[in-house]
Amino acid sequence: MKLHLLLKVLFGPVPVYFSALAILILLTNAQYFGLGGVGVPRATKLASSTPVVSVMKYCDIFRGEWVPDAEAPYYNHKTCGMIQEHQNCLKYGRPDLGFLKWRWRPSGCELPRFDPVQFLQFVRHKSLAFVGDSLARNHMQSLLCLLSQVAYPKDISANPTDQNKVYYYRAYNFTINMFWSPFLVRAREPDHDDPAHTGHYSLYLDEPDDKWVSQVPRFDYVLVSAANWFSRPSLFYEKRRLIGCSFCSRQYGVPDLTLYYSQRKAWRVALRAINALDGVKGRVIVRMLSPMSHFENGTWDQGGNCKRTEPIRSNQTVMEGRDLQFYTAQMEEYRAAEKAARPKGLRLMLMDATAAMLMRPDGHPSRYGHWPNEKVQLYNDCIHWCLPGPIDIWNDLLFQMMLV
Ligand SMILES: *[C@@H]1O[C@H](CO)[C@@H](O)[C@H](O)[C@H]1NC(C)=O
Ligand SMILES: *[C@@H]1O[C@H](CO)[C@@H](O)[C@H](O)[C@H]1NC(C)=O
Ligand SMILES: *[C@@H]1O[C@H](CO)[C@@H](O)[C@H](O)[C@H]1NC(C)=O
Repeated sequence: MKLHLLLKVLFGPVPVYFSALAILILLTNAQYFGLGGVGVPRATKLASSTPVVSVMKYCDIFRGEWVPDAEAPYYNHKTCGMIQEHQNCLKYGRPDLGFLKWRWRPSGCELPRFDPVQFLQFVRHKSLAFVGDSLARNHMQSLLCLLSQVAYPKDISANPTDQNKVYYYRAYNFTINMFWSPFLVRAREPDHDDPAHTGHYSLYLDEPDDKWVSQVPRFDYVLVSAANWFSRPSLFYEKRRLIGCSFCSRQYGVPDLTLYYSQRKAWRVALRAINALDGVKGRVIVRMLSPMSHFENGTWDQGGNCKRTEPIRSNQTVMEGRDLQFYTAQMEEYRAAEKAARPKGLRLMLMDATAAMLMRPDGHPSRYGHWPNEKVQLYNDCIHWCLPGPIDIWNDLLFQMMLV
C-alpha cells in the first residue's frame, strides 16, 4: 500500500473498520516507516532498522527526462496554506493542469517519490537552512507543502514581516531557516529606485554576508543558492573602494565589469568564507541556478512570456547565454571550493538541478500569479515555479542527497 494513500486512509474521514485495517497495516509495516517502538527513541530505531539508501550510490539523479505520471501532487492550494501568493498558480486560475502530471526520471534509476513521514523521521533533531533569494524561498515553501500533509510547523521567525524565516516542527524537533541573501555577499539597496529597477545596488564583493555565513556551523544542512539578483544594476566595491559596475553608464567613472564578474566573485567569496569557518559539522549544498531563459517572444520587460503546457526533452534544450555563463562559473567555483574543503573534512555537495529545470518552461506562473483583473503592473513570471509544480522535485533530490 502506498504511504500517501495510507495516510489519507488514516487521517481522512473513513469508516472505523477501515481505519482499524489501516492501523493494522501500519503496524505491520511500522519498522519500515520508522514508527515502531513506542517509548524507544525513534531516531535510533530508524537508523538501525529502516532500509533508506540513497539512489545516488548508483545513479546520476541530475540527468534524465521528465516522463508522464498519473499521480496527483501531494498538495494543492487548498491543502497547503504556505504558498507564496505569486506562485499560487492553481488559486489564480491557471487553466491547464497537465504540467502537474510529470515525474523526473533520472537515466539509470527511479527517483523515489518524496516521502514526508520518512523525511521527518530522518530530520528529527536536525536543522536545515536555505540561503538565497525568492527561488530559495520557492524551494523552501515546496518543502513546507510536501510536509504539510503530515505536520505543520510553527512560524517562530523573529520578525514575521521579515524575509528571514524560522519554522519549527515541534514533534520532530526539526528547524528550517530561511536566510535572505540574494547576493551572498554584503549588499546595500539603491538609495533611489524606480519601478523598472534602474537604481544601483552596492555590492561589497569581498565581504561575505555575515548574516548567514556566521550561522552555518549551527546547521546540519545548508543550501546555498544565488543567481538572478546579479541581473540588477550594481556598483562593485572591493576593499570598500568602488572598482566597477554592471548596467552602468560612465557617470560612475569605473568600468562596466558586467554581471558575470559580480556573480562569480560573490560565489568565490561566499564559498571561501564557508571553508574558513571552524566547527562546521553539517553539509553545505550548492544549489545550481534555476534557468532564467524561459521567456519566449520577448524579454521579461518586453512582453516575453512562458505559455508552454508541456516539458521539453533533454535533446531539445540548449544551455546558452546568461544561464550557461552563470552555470559555468558556479560549477567552477564549487569545484575549487570542494577541493579546498576536503582536507578540512568539510562536506560540500552539488545540487545540479539546472538541466532538469531547463526542460520545464511550462512550470512557471506566467500571469497566474495574480487575478487577471488586478490593476497592477506585473510582468509575466517565467522565473519562479508554480506550487505545486516541477520545483517539488528539488526536495526529492534534496532528500536523496541528505541520505548519502
Ligand atoms: C533538538 O535538536 C537540537 C539539535 O538541533 C538538540 O541540540 C536539542 O537537544 C534537541 N532538543 C530536544 C528536546 O531533543
Ligand atoms: C511566440 O509567437 C509565435 C508567433 O506569434 C506563437 O506561435 C507562439 O505560440 C509564441 N510562443 C509563446 C511561448 O508565446
Ligand atoms: C529527441 O529524442 C526523442 C526520443 O529519443 C526523439 O524522438 C526526437 O526525435 C529527438 N529530438 C531531436 C531534436 O533530436
